[in-house]
Amino acid sequence: MTEQSQGPALDNLLTESRTFPPSDEFAAAANAGPDLYAAADADREAFWATQAERLHWDTKWDRVLDWSDAPFAKWFVGGKLNVAYNCVDRHVESGHGDQVAIHWEGEPGDTRTITYSDLLAEVSKTANALTELGLQTGDRVAIYMPMVPEAIFSMLACARLGLTHSVVFGGFSAEALRSRIEDAAAKLVITTDGQYRRGKPAPLKPAVDEAVAQTPTIEHVLVVKRTDTEVAWTEGRDIWWNDLVDKQSDQHTPEAFDSEHPLYILYTSGTTGKPKGILHTSGGYLTQASYTHFNVFDLKPDSDVYWCTADIGWVTGHSYIVYGPLSNRVTQVVYEGTPNTPHEGRHWEIVQKYKVSIYYTAPTLIRTFMKWGKDIPAKYDLSSLRVLGSVGEPINPEAWIWYRENVGANRTPIVDTWWQTETGSIMISPLPGVTATKPGSAQKALPGISAKVVDDQGKEVPHGGGGYLVLDQPWPGMLRGIWGDNERYRDTYWSRFAEQGFYFAGDGAKYDNDGDIWLLGRVDDVMNVSGHRISTTEVESALVSHPTVAEAAVVGATDPTTGQGIVAFVILRGDAVDGGEDAVKALRDHVAKEIGPIAKPRQVMVVPELPKTRSGKIMRRLLRDVAENRSIGDVTTLADSTVMDLISQGLNKGSSED
Ligand code: WTA
Repeated sequence: MTEQSQGPALDNLLTESRTFPPSDEFAAAANAGPDLYAAADADREAFWATQAERLHWDTKWDRVLDWSDAPFAKWFVGGKLNVAYNCVDRHVESGHGDQVAIHWEGEPGDTRTITYSDLLAEVSKTANALTELGLQTGDRVAIYMPMVPEAIFSMLACARLGLTHSVVFGGFSAEALRSRIEDAAAKLVITTDGQYRRGKPAPLKPAVDEAVAQTPTIEHVLVVKRTDTEVAWTEGRDIWWNDLVDKQSDQHTPEAFDSEHPLYILYTSGTTGKPKGILHTSGGYLTQASYTHFNVFDLKPDSDVYWCTADIGWVTGHSYIVYGPLSNRVTQVVYEGTPNTPHEGRHWEIVQKYKVSIYYTAPTLIRTFMKWGKDIPAKYDLSSLRVLGSVGEPINPEAWIWYRENVGANRTPIVDTWWQTETGSIMISPLPGVTATKPGSAQKALPGISAKVVDDQGKEVPHGGGGYLVLDQPWPGMLRGIWGDNERYRDTYWSRFAEQGFYFAGDGAKYDNDGDIWLLGRVDDVMNVSGHRISTTEVESALVSHPTVAEAAVVGATDPTTGQGIVAFVILRGDAVDGGEDAVKALRDHVAKEIGPIAKPRQVMVVPELPKTRSGKIMRRLLRDVAENRSIGDVTTLADSTVMDLISQGLNKGSSED
């Protein structure tokens, strides 16, 4: 049934016209009411000051916003706070030390229960350990870990010490890790021996060994034992977590840092091959992460059990597992593994076991659940659920309705949250106690946020019109730049609508007749595969780095489950003309090795030539048409003639991108 319900095409999106207002009961008890919009409209800066006051500041700010050096914002200027103190210590101090912070569920079924007192002890010990290693405020620490509690302790210990963390998704390759360590000049990598994936331990440290062999800035590798896999060991450089952290004192006094102190760098794909290190700072970021988490998910810290299924390797894990939720004194589930290990009901079993009340996931997973069938969630007691969320890509109305009916018992509000690594926190979303939700639409900018859909000239389009999504006002959680590259920051986000001073998100969008926003997918060369951003150029560079490849063009083709699938067209070198199964497999594996398995092309088509415009630009739209052509089917290789026939048919249709 998912075959037809795919991707962001507008025709698909506008098929469902029902709206779903919250129940009176939900609305009456909600954290956010309609007055929140009114308060923000009345005085934006005063509104954000009120939100910042939800946190503990050691020194209060003198000024809410300094935008004089645009596009480099400063929020809560002169304020000082400790982010980890806000996420941990203050909850213990206010008498909630025994509250569970994390119900951790390992993939093999082992569990750990971590209270706020435990969390404070673990974060303090980790901070003392990092200090013993000689790390100092401002140093960068790479974190390359699966979803184990130590990953969260590590992030918070960095925040506590004013170290800037750079979390690298554990599914990325050694090469991806290497380039990120190098770009940030990190001094330490924290990792594990291995990780559980699909029921089996898989090694992780070998990738670190390979990466750090070429990164002289790394002084130590701190290794958590997770799978008990045998690992290679470099004496002096490598340290077992247990040997160093366990012996530390569980007392540590946090220091307050400037509101603009760098909290983390997180790399994301851009339209060139080189990933961008998105920089987030402390006070504004935490203010917005905390505010959005509290209001969008209607978090009730005394009674809710929250679960965000993201990985800490992505921004969703940063803002909606670590900083937002913990700052709000959440009780949350953190799950290590894959959703179908050991069976396809694993998520629902976890919801039932912990009585999860708020569940936040990605459309690609919802479509996968649809494929597995509604009988699976039906076997479990999901009655604890009261808010559902979606993030990462446009959610098609069919998937939205399926989610509501089969997970939310036709009762729970669904919040479709639009945001980006760059925005730091949710920007466009319904408020569950206010908005009559519409399947497929993220609807309106949150109170305090301003978003517009504009045409080529930067003029707002009328209701019913489509164009580019822009953010026309600075916001507290906004990126403060690209690590080490201010020029690229201006170019990438601020040059398209420089005259108007708009931030251009890279997404197409449209207003419906009520003025609600519908996201239509990226308008640049960034693909969205299972909610992961991957640039076409990055995959092309990986392909041409293979000795058999002369030229490569990569497109994102609509895929019923993953949103988009990566399709590569390659021209082989003269002496490597054989484009058989083996050659194609070698290329797919090569991309996985260079970037990571998530970037492995769904299809590689060996072609004798690539369609180009007269000026030499590859005609991607045409290639996308070819890639999406149903007659191609699912085969990984195609006879040259088939592809070329399709390409020439397309050319004859007058497709052009000049
Ligand atoms: C897309 C993930 C439609 C969008 C938090 C954006 C979405 C990119 C949605 C950012 C949504 C994210 N509806 N599209 N609710 N959420 N996107 O940086 O194209 O990994 O630009 O951040 O994902 O991806 P990123």
